[in-house]
Amino acid sequence: VTRMQDLDLRGKRVLIREDLNVPVENGRITSTQRLDAALPTIVAARDAGAKVMVISHLGRPKEGEFDEASSLKPVAEWLGKKLGKDVRLVRDYLDGVDVADGEVVVLENCRMNVGEGKDDETLSKKYAALCDIFVMDAFGTAHRAQASTHGVIRFAPVAAAGPLLAKELDALGKALENPDHPLLAIVAGSKVSTKLELLQNLVGRVDQLIVGGGIANTFILAAGHKVGKSLVEADLLDTAKKIMADAKSRGAEVPVPTDVVVATEFSATAKATVKAVDQVGDDEMILDIGPDTAKRYAELIAKAGTVVWNGPVGVFEFDAFGKGTETLARAIAASKAFSIAGGGDTLAAVDKYGIEDGVSYISTGGGAFLEFLEGKELPAVAALQARADSK
Ligand code: 3PG
Repeated sequence: VTRMQDLDLRGKRVLIREDLNVPVENGRITSTQRLDAALPTIVAARDAGAKVMVISHLGRPKEGEFDEASSLKPVAEWLGKKLGKDVRLVRDYLDGVDVADGEVVVLENCRMNVGEGKDDETLSKKYAALCDIFVMDAFGTAHRAQASTHGVIRFAPVAAAGPLLAKELDALGKALENPDHPLLAIVAGSKVSTKLELLQNLVGRVDQLIVGGGIANTFILAAGHKVGKSLVEADLLDTAKKIMADAKSRGAEVPVPTDVVVATEFSATAKATVKAVDQVGDDEMILDIGPDTAKRYAELIAKAGTVVWNGPVGVFEFDAFGKGTETLARAIAASKAFSIAGGGDTLAAVDKYGIEDGVSYISTGGGAFLEFLEGKELPAVAALQARADSK
């Protein structure tokens, strides 16, 4: 695959697809993680003397209409501050944009363009005509086959992978394809059903698979324990059993909690009680792993060569049910393992416990991170590969 770093960008019209889909509340950006990650690419292109056009989506506006709430205006302003120079936000750009050498402009939300979501060929060609070089750098959107991520790659004069995309693929590839063992994965979250493919793909690769949150409840039930009124997916019991059996047959472990933190209601003020996993009452729900379990998992993390983390193991938004997640987060930060973390809730936990510096790699991908770990091909990456192969 062609890389942006290997190209001479001077005086070229360079269209960079970033994932600048950041949370915005009342016109204010509440997390700049994706912007911080994209900034070095934009700066590099500017410093190389390119005419830089940055394109991204934000949210899911309706195509063919202007939607103020989904405007990239706050993003352009943020970028202007970081670059020390106002950054123009261009609304009408499909027929061409004038950009000076070394200038950076932001093109308004590409999801307002008709045909973006359907990967429309006409729109893809319009994007392609804007530039001499198209740079795909939006790892977070690489799992979407849309006009600005996938279609344009087919028609741009030159298509290249940006440094952020390359960095993400390197880090995630290292964790899954060539990991230092033991490889331990933490897959947690409320529902087994949303992470089934992830669990199934990982079970064949990992040495330990720690499940947490509602996902763990289904495994606890599958292991023969009562879970009271915990969130559980009873129809996936056989699937959970099969995952445990598969793991066992490959010499991998899926440890089940021996103690849990329960409450009779789901709230920030609910009374938290630690119980052995076989003592959960009918009127109780499991909201976190217990301290013994957390300690046991932390020991596994300490011995791991690679840790992949997606999902908090308890309801960490409520402090009384956050100790399990905190213990694992601190164990990851303290371990020498190569660790990667990704997904919205996981990043919120990383943030809450202040362990950013202790994680080897924090992915900007939500859905894309999951799909990569599920072993799926990301359409935008496949399109870059296809361009490289057809040379
Ligand atoms: C994300 O936030 O995961 C990406 O920006 C993709 O957004 P989407 O789910 O709206 O396609």
